[in-house]
Amino acid sequence: DWTMGAFREEAIKKIRDQVGDKRVLCGLSGGVDSAVAAVLIHEAIGDQLTCVFVDHGLMRLGEAEQVVSLFRNTYNIPLVHVDASEMFLKELDGVSDPEKKRKTIGKLFIDVFEAEAKKIGGADFLAQGTLYPDVIESVSFTGGPSVTIKSHHNVGGLPERMNMKLVEPLRDLFKDEVRALGRELGLPESFVGRHPFPGPGLAIRCPGEITVEKLDILRKADAIYLEEIRAAGLYDVIWQAFAVLLPVRTVGVMGDGRTYDHVLALRAVTSVDGMTADFYPYQMDFLGRTATRLINEVRGINRVVYDVTSKPPGTIEWE
Ligand code: XMP
Repeated sequence: DWTMGAFREEAIKKIRDQVGDKRVLCGLSGGVDSAVAAVLIHEAIGDQLTCVFVDHGLMRLGEAEQVVSLFRNTYNIPLVHVDASEMFLKELDGVSDPEKKRKTIGKLFIDVFEAEAKKIGGADFLAQGTLYPDVIESVSFTGGPSVTIKSHHNVGGLPERMNMKLVEPLRDLFKDEVRALGRELGLPESFVGRHPFPGPGLAIRCPGEITVEKLDILRKADAIYLEEIRAAGLYDVIWQAFAVLLPVRTVGVMGDGRTYDHVLALRAVTSVDGMTADFYPYQMDFLGRTATRLINEVRGINRVVYDVTSKPPGTIEWE
């Protein structure tokens, strides 16, 4: 008779056993996984936990504010908010290779954490919201040869020099179980039901080189797309939906002028655990309406396409 309540008790005991009276640093990404991990660990060890939210400048519209407010105001969990966007964007300047992007972001995260750990006088443990699918996907592709598809930046251990051990209380769970645990812990439904968002953020939704201008276009476009999805009552039906700003410009016509602007790709998939996924079969009128809004309201986009690739053979993210 296995329930989330039992898992919670068990997990709390395990965390206490592992951590003892030592300090734990937990990185919040803005997503469900790290939030659930943080709340669970806080329940286990209280003030021995310090949460750090690293804003890499690759978040969606309003996301940073939401995370900070949830932790500080709703949960009263101490949170260090590090605005490291300038540093991240500088390091990513000129980087277009997907793995190089992921590795650059992963390395900077570690650097920032290390600095924060020092500031609080050192921490022995680093907590992460790693899930079971993250663990397997970084090792091998389901049913295929043992190759790395993508370097998830929250998996794979830490550099030796960090000298911190990992606390990963969600390592055996799938996404739906993490959501159930989040509800059990009293996280607001609006947070628990959020679509997954990758650690490297919008960087991997801007194929090619990243610029502040491209990120701004993508943030606006993504917000409008999600607004339309919510308005159509589809948010909870879809596992994950987002826009991808393509490094391709095409010719268009607006009013009586020629335009030469970016292509925006829309993605939406259904899935159980993110390991396999089907593209979401929108009604054409939804796509048409959304495309019109995007092109009219977001400067820099003059064409919208819909990605009809499932996983496999595609991955959910484009990079
Ligand atoms: P892919 O693109 O591999 O994505 O089909 C599967 C799920 O994982 C998310 N994803 C990540 N999550 N760090 C994360 O925390 C990452 O580096 C990362 N890369 C992909 C992706 O959004 C999807 O939900």
